[in-house]
Amino acid sequence: MVHSSAPGAPDRIAWMRAARFGLFVHWGLYALPARHEWVKNRERMDDAHYQRYFDHFDPDLYDPRSWAREAANAGMKYAVLTTKHHEGFCLWDSELTDYKATNTPARRDLVGPFVEAFRAEGLRVGFYHSLLDWHHPEFPIDGLHPQRDDDAAKQAGRDRDVSRYADYLHGQVRELLTGYGTIDYLFFDFSYPDRFDGGKGRSDWRSDELLALVRELQPDIVVNDRLDIPGDVLTPEQYQPAGPMVGPDGPALWEACQTLNGSWGYDRDNLDWKTPDQLVRMLVDGVSKDGNLLLNVGPTARGEFDDRAVATLRAIGEWTRRHARSVYDAGPAELAAPPDCRVTRRGDRLYVHVFAWPFRHLHLAGLADRVEYAQLLHDGSEIPMEVAEPGRRAQNTTMGGLPAGTLTLTLPVQRPDVAVPVVELFLRS
Ligand code: GLC
Repeated sequence: MVHSSAPGAPDRIAWMRAARFGLFVHWGLYALPARHEWVKNRERMDDAHYQRYFDHFDPDLYDPRSWAREAANAGMKYAVLTTKHHEGFCLWDSELTDYKATNTPARRDLVGPFVEAFRAEGLRVGFYHSLLDWHHPEFPIDGLHPQRDDDAAKQAGRDRDVSRYADYLHGQVRELLTGYGTIDYLFFDFSYPDRFDGGKGRSDWRSDELLALVRELQPDIVVNDRLDIPGDVLTPEQYQPAGPMVGPDGPALWEACQTLNGSWGYDRDNLDWKTPDQLVRMLVDGVSKDGNLLLNVGPTARGEFDDRAVATLRAIGEWTRRHARSVYDAGPAELAAPPDCRVTRRGDRLYVHVFAWPFRHLHLAGLADRVEYAQLLHDGSEIPMEVAEPGRRAQNTTMGGLPAGTLTLTLPVQRPDVAVPVVELFLRS
């Protein structure tokens, strides 16, 4: 069930709530056409056409240690790799199919080195696994399948048996959860029980049976909410929730998965890139609402993070390096944020993340006698505080008219040159 933050709830998600920031990696044959991971669906490619990408998948520059270093430097605390995406291509040496990396020019299992490299950098490891499979001979040709408009293919595939496909799905999940040691997170994707022609959900995947298998093989693993049954964490995608989220059991941890440019897979010509400052604001925004950010990189067909992705991760790392304690192991604060700010709390400190730098003052309602000291987090420089005298009227340069109990911070006129300036408030014990 989705674990509420209620005290006493079994807390297998404690590490994830503390981690706050993870790397998503979408890598597969779709890196070769390099125009979105749904290219087979969008361009209605059949297996014969798509075979060219299998035949030429040769990630000779693949070095997951470099990926892990970039992720750790960016401040990411866990990483999730696509083991198989909707195209059906497996990055590991599965015994249940020939459609796998070991049979391409890559000639090796790509999952094992990923797991080792990220663990060596101190990150927890998760697997993304697609429930859809547009290559498997028993996966029905439904309204999302690349052959959805091919009457001959649909006729030939009319006897496809989704339960046989589910056997394959369960078998591969067993391979993944027994072949690589402890896996911390399993991100299934995705159910569509009442959408498109021939939608699929819990009965098609046999989700209850599959989740029981997962829990048996890796009892502490976190499972997401896309099996069409409740999971441990909610997974809003490509948007930022307006506030804390509620699952079947009440308030719940959520993790927004986001792209750098709108595409999960490498998309060479895409120019819709988010700026590092925008991504830092999304990270902070999430933490202030008890959420995580799972930020995606789509590596190239050669096996590298492209230069823009690397530059973006490094820019984010510049912020997280100096502001770590305002987001990691931090969460919502019971305080109304000032305009254009987000507030997080970590133990006995509050963090005011200033998205739009005001002229000279920040007013914090109700904090008058609760704060012992204030400083800018990036350089530890003091921020003067004052408490509004009740009833003081404004006159010339004298501020007045503030609600009783307001704490006013005096900020430098110059905005600090960091992605998101943060004021750290030390609460009185
Ligand atoms: C959607 C997309 C899929 C992507 C996933 C990431 O389900 O279909 O391509 O992997 O989002 O959460």
